[in-house]
Amino acid sequence: MPTRIFLTSGDLMADRRYDFARDLQMKGDLPGAADLLLQATDLAPNFVTAWFTLGDIRETLGERDAAITAFRKAWAGDPDDRHGARLRLMRLGAEPLAAMPQGYVQVLFDQYARRFNAALVDDLGYRGPDLLFGAVLSVRAAARKPAFFKRAIDLGCGTGLVATAFAKEVDHLIGIDLSPRMIEQARATGCYAELEVGDIVQGLRARPDSSADLILAADVMIYVADLAPVLAESSRVLAAGGLFAFTTETHAGEGVILGAGLRYAHAAAHVREAVEAAGLNLSLLEDRSARTEENIPVPGLVAVAAKG
Ligand SMILES: C[S@@+](CC[C@H](N)C(=O)[O-])C[C@H]1O[C@@H](n2cnc3c(N)ncnc32)[C@H](O)[C@@H]1O
Repeated sequence: MPTRIFLTSGDLMADRRYDFARDLQMKGDLPGAADLLLQATDLAPNFVTAWFTLGDIRETLGERDAAITAFRKAWAGDPDDRHGARLRLMRLGAEPLAAMPQGYVQVLFDQYARRFNAALVDDLGYRGPDLLFGAVLSVRAAARKPAFFKRAIDLGCGTGLVATAFAKEVDHLIGIDLSPRMIEQARATGCYAELEVGDIVQGLRARPDSSADLILAADVMIYVADLAPVLAESSRVLAAGGLFAFTTETHAGEGVILGAGLRYAHAAAHVREAVEAAGLNLSLLEDRSARTEENIPVPGLVAVAAKG
């Protein structure tokens, strides 16, 4: 699901060159499109969308150095990095792994909000909320405790699929998400007592100690490079005996990587270490795929961490 946003250059001629370039790009004439984009950036040197598109085309053409130059211009021209140029630089190995630009995540999901459920559930067989539900039930059953939670927080709640899955098990549910359009969809479910637009770590920081019994994050850690701040804040916000359940994509190597789909993948050992470092006990860690791409289940994990 690529973002496709247009930030005008403010120069009519440059914008028109960009439109022609996109026409050529769609028709498969990538060198011709690149020429027109260079003309557009000559006319408007800070034309972020043209630089980003040029980087994309250069990368497709295998022109790595030229792609890097173009992506750097796109990033420099838009501090919020709504196109995600820095991510592209990370994927090309030209920038160290870092947090996902929040402006990019917000634009991505604002664009995606209306068709999210159909695209993810119907097209990719998305099953993140069901995986969390099954995992939480199994941990509670093993502990011989009821699977009912008074106060829960749904991190990166999106359109509210997790709320629908947990509706009967949770009394008071709070949803937090960066994307206002996703929050609108979540509100329409009627399942949330509170909803807030914002970053998950900031949202958790605003919550008192020991104020939640359950924290859920389905398909969200794939947008989080460093698990430590989320785990540390979750540990603080959870009451004794509370659970933090999350899914993530994974890989056979070590640590965290940015995958081809521009989502982070966390190795199982890395998840285990991060959970322990946050002072939580790992109750469950299983290989489970949350989505299927091109008929292949994307390798994933479901984890449940408990506060002692
Ligand atoms: C793939 S969707 C999953 C939505 C929902 N959890 C579900 O299972 O259907 C990922 C969501 O996480 C949100 N998100 C990603 N990074 C975030 C962050 N740092 N803070 C808040 N929300 C974030 C996105 O805006 C998006 O709505």
